[in-house]
Amino acid sequence: DLNPSALMRQTLLGMSRNDQLRSVVEAAPVSREVVRRFVGGVSDQDVIGVATELVDTRRLVTIDYLGEDTVDPVMAERTRDAYVGLLQALSEAGLTADGTVEVSLKLSALGQALGSDGNAIALENARVICQAAANAGTTVTLDAEDHTTTDLTLSVLRDLRQDWPWVGAVLQSYLYRTEQDCRDLATEGSRVRLCKGTYKEPESVAFQDKADVDRSFVRCLKILMEGPGYPMVASHDPRIVEIATVLADKAQREPDTFEFQMLLGIRPEEQLRLAATGARMRVYVPYGEQWYGYLMRRMAERPANLAFFLRGLATR
Ligand code: FDA
Repeated sequence: DLNPSALMRQTLLGMSRNDQLRSVVEAAPVSREVVRRFVGGVSDQDVIGVATELVDTRRLVTIDYLGEDTVDPVMAERTRDAYVGLLQALSEAGLTADGTVEVSLKLSALGQALGSDGNAIALENARVICQAAANAGTTVTLDAEDHTTTDLTLSVLRDLRQDWPWVGAVLQSYLYRTEQDCRDLATEGSRVRLCKGTYKEPESVAFQDKADVDRSFVRCLKILMEGPGYPMVASHDPRIVEIATVLADKAQREPDTFEFQMLLGIRPEEQLRLAATGARMRVYVPYGEQWYGYLMRRMAERPANLAFFLRGLATR
């Protein structure tokens, strides 16, 4: 029962896992240019340049290091060290004060999936990164992954928050459980990024219909905006942005008590418009050698991005 866009999505998700294709795309000289729209480069130096440009245009930043699939504890440590090095470099570049540039991380990259010890390994690695963030004067947000990890990730969040109350959570409105998670996490100072959710989830745990995911987003956002926490509205959806503005107004929130978040390269004019209204606008910037899978997943989400990408390839 695949419609054309579902078929396209499946093809692109297949491409995201195809190593041969990866090398073709990487080798194409144009890739650099096209990739640059959505990815903040491969090195610390690259991403610091991108972050500086964003900060200079009144935007805040969260940086995600795209590491290799973490299949053993050594790789998890490598990812941890990459974050620690990045935080130090960002701090030296003067970008981390007051959380202007923070980091986002995936516990899977820190070892969460490594068998029965995985969660403890990920927690220990995350602790080292949180300490480095604290030293740099900034914050850390734990990305949300597929639903089988939600409980574990929220338990790591609780542990980390005992020492660093500013650690941010991500909740996905496509999950049925998220309204309750929003209630639980809408506490004083609690940083919660609300997004729709990007993984393919079964009907047993998640809304399948886009309209239901959107309605859930609004219910969740209402809980967060009315509570005493710090909501982070992660969506490019114009209706969601508008509703967030209305809900913040109704809750009599000052502009510095919540923020909007969007991905690098997506609706950049809207990012600038929101920042110019005095809203806090944070851009999520992925970077690292492993940009290919990330890029293909973004293409799968939106064929218009794919057209942009292919146009770039064809004009060479
Ligand atoms: P959606 O894809 O539903 O599109 C709705 C409308 O938005 C479109 O009709 C269009 O008007 C506009 N739009 C969307 N994409 C556009 C584009 N490329 N160009 C122009 N207009 C566009 N997911 C997850 O599971 N775990 C996580 O930790 C995170 N983290 C995260 C951080 C940040 C900062 C963001 C912005 C997103 C995430 N996500 C995520 C991804 C998120 O769950 C979701 O998959 C994407 O943001 C897409 O959903 P949207 O709400 O943006 O709009």
